[in-house]
Amino acid sequence: PENVGIVTMEMIFPSYYVDQTELEVFDGVSAGKYTIGLGQDKMGFCTDREDINSLCLTVVHNLMEKHHLKYSDIGRLEVGTETVIDKSKSVKTVLMQLFEPHGVVDLEGVDSTNACYGGTAALFNALSWVESSAWNGRYALVVTADIAVYAKGSARPTGGAGAVAMLIGPNAPLVIDRGLRAIYMRHAYDFYKPNLSSEYPVVDGKLSIQCYLNALDKCYQSYCKKASKQQGRSICVKDIDYFLFHSPYCKLVQKSLSRLVLNDIVQLSTNKVELEYPDLKKYKDKKLEECYFDKEIEKVFVNYSNDLFEKKTKASLLAANQIGNMYTASLYGSLVSLLVGVNSVEDLLGKRVVLFSYGSGLASSMYSITISSNKEDISKLVKSLKHVQLQLKERRKVSPEKFSSILELREKNCHAAPYEPSGTTEDLFPGTYYLIQVDEMHRRKYQRI
Ligand code: ACO
Repeated sequence: PENVGIVTMEMIFPSYYVDQTELEVFDGVSAGKYTIGLGQDKMGFCTDREDINSLCLTVVHNLMEKHHLKYSDIGRLEVGTETVIDKSKSVKTVLMQLFEPHGVVDLEGVDSTNACYGGTAALFNALSWVESSAWNGRYALVVTADIAVYAKGSARPTGGAGAVAMLIGPNAPLVIDRGLRAIYMRHAYDFYKPNLSSEYPVVDGKLSIQCYLNALDKCYQSYCKKASKQQGRSICVKDIDYFLFHSPYCKLVQKSLSRLVLNDIVQLSTNKVELEYPDLKKYKDKKLEECYFDKEIEKVFVNYSNDLFEKKTKASLLAANQIGNMYTASLYGSLVSLLVGVNSVEDLLGKRVVLFSYGSGLASSMYSITISSNKEDISKLVKSLKHVQLQLKERRKVSPEKFSSILELREKNCHAAPYEPSGTTEDLFPGTYYLIQVDEMHRRKYQRI
């Protein structure tokens, strides 16, 4: 099959949010820490009515319905998530409830888990399947979803929740470039979830940022090498139209783009640096692994790359800024944000998008998408996602006090059985699945609004 990639997408997020300015006051931190320091405006969260199963049921049902797809059109279903409510039963098998009534049980794939990377692992599995001898001519469906919640403290404002589903097949408007995949994996204890009865991770914040930036450097260098070889000329930041990143908080993304410029300078020949970056040549001999937290370098490069950020990355941060970290769905929420956020469809046609996926622990990749030049196809794709901007505005704001008590309720009951959720269902968006009951055998039942 030719031009394998993302045929269409769907995105959902909670109908409740907490305002980050109000959260700063509530948490007693200095004004601007979350909004300016981290770059976050609002944070989406779920009550006890939603869990990872319900988010995935909603996003899949919405996608199938909107695009008038038949369940028998799907031959593989993959879920990438780190929100585990069962150590054995996959979310994928819960989603079978949607397929079974249509007689569809011939459906490969289960769940992939490694922090925020599981969604990318699921996507790569789906691509491999379509390109393999096991392919049966149907679409693959990849679901990325998470509920990101942190214990009280400095990490809490970097939570979020949401799901993105992607239909994968040939002749796609968003073609995943072949032979251009950079991988970087290591062992690290930067963010992990050893407490199996809690939704909260153990986080070494500073180490997680260092690991993220280290993975970014390595993936970018490897991606550039592969792309340069494929295209027979050297590739740098200026050659790529859009850069999307896994987005724990927006400020880290802005710093990450600027770090790619630093990577370029370190990699380029001295002559080229003098020609193209005369003001930055003194950074040519910097050791990347010695300047993850060098404030002077950070400032110089963020300032230098401000225009690049405006052009190549800013539009992709809508979901990250308004919802927060959606873990596995974060990078794909950035892709949706880019598609709906550019000034016109013309800005997308034929463009190359580089994506950086990072999951703590750690697993990371950089790969790229070439957007089709067919205006009709891209317009259709963009139109089908326009509800995202509207729904972000239709959400209900909840006070930090209420938000905090809802998280406490989740904390107490996330593995309780039997359990009757108490959250109201009135404010959920149409089409949302919600939890009705967990019985004494921990079996969960859902209903759709
Ligand atoms: N006005 C403006 N900026 C401010 C203010 C203020 N009043 N107060 C602080 N800031 C700035 C700080 O200078 C800092 O910015 P800088 O790094 O550019 O200098 C920023 O706000 C954050 O402040 P810190 O003191 O560094 O924040 P803290 O250490 O309390 O927490 C952290 C930040 C570590 C990111 C925390 O939220 C966390 O642990 N989050 C979860 C882990 C995470 O997301 N890691 C990222 C990669 S891994 C993953 O995806 C899960």
